[in-house]
Amino acid sequence: MLVKKYGEYALITGASSGIGKEFAISLAKEGFNLFLVARRAKELDSLAQELRETSKVDVIVHATDLTSQNSVEELEVYTQNIDIGLVILNAGMQTHGSFIKTSLVEQEKMLELNVMIPMKMAHIFANRLVKKGSGSIIFLSSTFAYQAVPYFSNYAASKSYILNFAEALHVELAPKGVDVLALSPGLTKTEMPDKIAMDFSKMPISMMETDAVVYTALNALKDKKSSVIPGGRNKMMAFMAQKMMSRASIANMFGSMNVKAMEASIL
Ligand SMILES: NC(=O)c1ccc[n+]([C@@H]2O[C@H](COP(=O)([O-])OP(=O)(O)OC[C@H]3O[C@@H](n4cnc5c(N)ncnc54)[C@H](OP(=O)(O)O)[C@@H]3O)[C@@H](O)[C@H]2O)c1
Repeated sequence: MLVKKYGEYALITGASSGIGKEFAISLAKEGFNLFLVARRAKELDSLAQELRETSKVDVIVHATDLTSQNSVEELEVYTQNIDIGLVILNAGMQTHGSFIKTSLVEQEKMLELNVMIPMKMAHIFANRLVKKGSGSIIFLSSTFAYQAVPYFSNYAASKSYILNFAEALHVELAPKGVDVLALSPGLTKTEMPDKIAMDFSKMPISMMETDAVVYTALNALKDKKSSVIPGGRNKMMAFMAQKMMSRASIANMFGSMNVKAMEASIL
């Protein structure tokens, strides 16, 4: 059981919906107490209530905007006396469409949430876990991390950072008893793709369910893998990007697929 191996509590950022919520449900079933983070207090409270009743675990809710000033420092203080053994750095946002048409403020906010916040939290929690001699950190990357993706240029680049960062930390922290996993889902049924002005039926991909993504991640963690891509088709796309096509060809391929599938107004 992961809970015996790592510690009493799992901390999950972005637990109010999608993949983060699914992690909360699965880890409660594994017997983890939970420390849930996201902005929407109402969603977190109702999930917490449900999990306390169904899984008989303790659930602490911390509603915060992670991009607000001092959010990470506050989290560091609030969690200092809690035995957190598993940290899931999942909260994320996406920008898409023509880079030059998108707002610079949104692009900066995305880099803060997708890159700076997980890096800062990893620094705090990796230090604590190393001191404890056990624990784990899961980072949310994406299959977009495996190549340049025109019209998701900054988002895909943020996920490439996370993939490389997590795989490097896996090597650094394994001898110190801390397991690190980069989880790179492909398109997954959550609120995130709902917000994209795009016809996904024009893409050669299928959407995965969140439970399959989380199941794959937890098995990869148990197997001490450094990196995992859920789904055969997603694995194949990443393999093609890395081994079968040049970087320029795969970027051009994604560019033309996205132009066909995205609404003209955002291109
Ligand atoms: N869905 C996909 O196709 C897909 C594919 C590959 C990777 N991913 C990655 O998976 C992760 C989870 O995304 P998802 O698909 O589950 O999307 P989602 O349902 O939109 O979940 C995003 C989560 O992040 C939280 N969040 C967003 N901004 C925040 C902020 N400023 N402060 C604190 N929390 C914030 C949201 O909660 P609040 O709104 O309540 O704050 C929500 O709980 C992301 O890192 C995403 O990039 C998703």
